[in-house]
Amino acid sequence: MPLETHDFRATEFCNMPGDDYCDKVTHVVSACDSRDQVLQFLNVEVESLSKNVIIVTTEWLSECLKSGKIVPVEKQHYIPWTVIPAKTTVNERTENIPIYECQRETPLQHHNEHITHALEILAKEADFRNDDINYSRALAFRRAACVFKCLPSRVEGVQEIQSLHNIGSHVKRIVEDILDNGYSSEAEKTENNDWFKTMMTFTGVFGVGPAIADKWYRLGLRTIEDLKIEQTLPNKDERISTGLTFHDDLTLPVLRSEAEALADLIRCELDTIDPQYQLVVTGGFRRGKDCGHDVDILLTHPVEGKEKGILEDLLHRLDRQGRLIYGKREQSTWNDGVLQGENIKGQYLKSTLDHFEKWIGIMKLDKKCRQCCLNYGLNSNEKQQELLHSSLDMKKVSHLRPDTMSHMDPKNNSTKRKCPSSSSEDRGTNDRTWYARRVDLIVTPTSQFYYALVGWTGSKHFNRSLRLYAQKELHMKLTSHALYDTTKKHLIPANSEQEVFKNLHLRYLEPVERNC
Ligand code: CTP
Ligand code: MN
Ligand code: MN
Repeated sequence: MPLETHDFRATEFCNMPGDDYCDKVTHVVSACDSRDQVLQFLNVEVESLSKNVIIVTTEWLSECLKSGKIVPVEKQHYIPWTVIPAKTTVNERTENIPIYECQRETPLQHHNEHITHALEILAKEADFRNDDINYSRALAFRRAACVFKCLPSRVEGVQEIQSLHNIGSHVKRIVEDILDNGYSSEAEKTENNDWFKTMMTFTGVFGVGPAIADKWYRLGLRTIEDLKIEQTLPNKDERISTGLTFHDDLTLPVLRSEAEALADLIRCELDTIDPQYQLVVTGGFRRGKDCGHDVDILLTHPVEGKEKGILEDLLHRLDRQGRLIYGKREQSTWNDGVLQGENIKGQYLKSTLDHFEKWIGIMKLDKKCRQCCLNYGLNSNEKQQELLHSSLDMKKVSHLRPDTMSHMDPKNNSTKRKCPSSSSEDRGTNDRTWYARRVDLIVTPTSQFYYALVGWTGSKHFNRSLRLYAQKELHMKLTSHALYDTTKKHLIPANSEQEVFKNLHLRYLEPVERNC
């Protein structure tokens, strides 16, 4: 007699007319996990089985066959009514997701883009509303998005997210909508909203924040062309008019190859001043992104104090080469109070402002630097097209390892490279040989370098989480300058990024794992 349940049923205990089982049937043997499944398989209701019928496991049958007789059915031979569903992988692993984003690995590529895209649109919309309540709303959407970014698999059902932190009822409704309909109607409505679309366009202009963008919207302006031709615009602000002039360039994502070329030319200049100067490309590129809205470069010198004056000297040289289009050099506003994390009350966690000497500006970079995509084995044309069409979404990811840039490790800057030549000539928008590129140059004293490196690597949300964690869990104040123990009233130095994490009692996360 075959032990497979199905054959056994079919050959020995076949249905009687009317789908009822005859009184002779005493045992139904099954390999199913639950009696529910057995009944489903037999296609009978529980009532149609005689009270005498026992549904038993195949082990019972084996024991009967071994002993050559019908053995009594014991507790272990019964098949349970229903199976308690095994926890899904997601649930098992999500229960252990730590509360703070800085305690989790958040990769650049994740499984829940369908959800995070919607949440990020809603966060952006709340940002545009630019008040305290909406600041909290934006934060709630971002914190929820961050949870989805670190999940081990794609969320397929709302039950999978019941036990997750930072997922409120609003977010649950959004997720439910996405799972039911394939998209979030709320996010789609926002994306199609005229005010939102205009705010996206206007805040994409260098120097324009939500307040100015909203003012322009109320004036009836809608497009970049409107801004360019509107004579009454308050664009006496040189920063904004430069932003408008180079708007096309500045919304064309900066490629990794361009960041590298820019770092090369700055390194060349620094080398001629003092080869001990060090630079590192930070920001999104260091987190593994292959394009971004700017290039963030951190500068330092191993001898404390020698970093002073370098920015002025460097900018002077770059200006002589005709590379600077626009820029604002901010002096350092550093003092001891800064190191201890003093800040305007309530602004400490909101603000990313630091007190380093820096230059926030726009530089010319040869167009040919964009061709370097080929160096990374990518299909250049395809890649460029993709990037050109994603100017508002600078998050396009690649499989490139970020350490393809030698500048990533500040200790690894001994290699001298050939300076890319400055062939820049302004011959009009389409004719010219260069693109305008947003550049942030930040100078840090060597004693603050590793805190600055963590701060300028980001992400912005990762920094926020680190600072919140330090404050709430350790009673410490973390800034891009230092870590200050507010109980013991002393600074905790760090000589590596690993040490920054160690000082914070956190497991070290690589820059590519800080993409929350
Ligand atoms: N940052 C900062 N102080 C500022 C501006 C930025 O500490 N005044 C930090 C941000 O928190 C971020 C990093 O520097 O972590 C880089 O900022 P930004 O260039 O705005 O963001 P990216 O992550 O580099 O994004 P993108 O690739 O689009 O440039
Ligand atoms: Mn950046
Ligand atoms: Mn930047």
